Amino acid sequence: MDYSTKISERMWNQPDKGELEAEREQTFIDDIVQKAHIQKELLSNHDGIKTVFDGGAGSGRFSILLAKQGLNVTHFDISQPMIDKARQLAKKEGVQDRITFVKGALEDLSAFNDRSFDLVMSFDSPISYTYPKQEETIKELVRIADKRIMISVSSRLGALPYLSNPIQKNQFILDKDSKDEWVKWCLNSRDQMVESFSFNKESLFKTYENGLMCDVEEAKKAYDRGEVPWSISYHFMPDELKEILARYGVKNISLAGPGAFARTIPNEILIKIMNDPKQKEEFLEFSHMYDSNPYVCGMGKDNLFAKGEIK
Ligand SMILES: C[S@@+](CC[C@H](N)C(=O)[O-])C[C@H]1O[C@@H](n2cnc3c(N)ncnc32)[C@H](O)[C@@H]1O
Repeated sequence: MDYSTKISERMWNQPDKGELEAEREQTFIDDIVQKAHIQKELLSNHDGIKTVFDGGAGSGRFSILLAKQGLNVTHFDISQPMIDKARQLAKKEGVQDRITFVKGALEDLSAFNDRSFDLVMSFDSPISYTYPKQEETIKELVRIADKRIMISVSSRLGALPYLSNPIQKNQFILDKDSKDEWVKWCLNSRDQMVESFSFNKESLFKTYENGLMCDVEEAKKAYDRGEVPWSISYHFMPDELKEILARYGVKNISLAGPGAFARTIPNEILIKIMNDPKQKEEFLEFSHMYDSNPYVCGMGKDNLFAKGEIK
């Protein structure tokens, strides 16, 4: 098993992961924007779709959404806590009979025949966690898709600003009283992060070249010491992603950068918008249009979204 798979397995199998993932839209505004973008795409693109494969489906944000539309979904994930949480939420929504839960890694999709699913989807970066097999993983996802594919991966241009803005996540905190450890850390360490920051051209250029935010060898060593490093994550360039999908036969490919518009707006304003239902709805509608413009797709917040047709 590759280190990436082993690291992902350890990280995502932490017991609280399912719970945290299910609560992200109560905690972070960037998650609201990104999930709303994907939801709009799914709800307006499932005509003629009966069967769905959701790779790295997490706590079921999208597998449950589509099961509620009457589709049969295979919910595939490397993490048991995620699957347990998704099963619980699916039951609550009364759609557990339309979802087949499968524990597995995207690096091995050999159990699935060619063209097994009308729609194949994988959101919020599971493909990026399969480094160095990210391209092979996309090839395999296309192989098992019959009509349509929709994915979102880590975005290189979108992620690079993190390297010169260690307090970027603060912009998107919705609930400052959240018990989430990450929220507490962002708020408590803000001043210290600003004080200790210095612009590092070298790390930016390195990530621009190789698409890796972390030092892979260090992550492997940390894993071997029994620690829980963040998943090794490969960040794609927009043209690169489009070219890979096209190479494996995907047609009519379009890209988007969910969160590109939101990242131009400060936290206080975002919070006002999110706390007013009408403004929130209109903001998400406008963001979807703005973020779907190919000229801004690289600047999506974390994610680069792609959709295309198989035939
Ligand atoms: C950030 S969550 C996204 C969940 C869901 N797709 C969504 O958009 O809400 C990433 C998910 O990918 C899963 N994952 C990570 N690496 C994976 C791999 N190699 N194979 C399958 N699933 C993986 C994790 O367990 C986690 O549930």
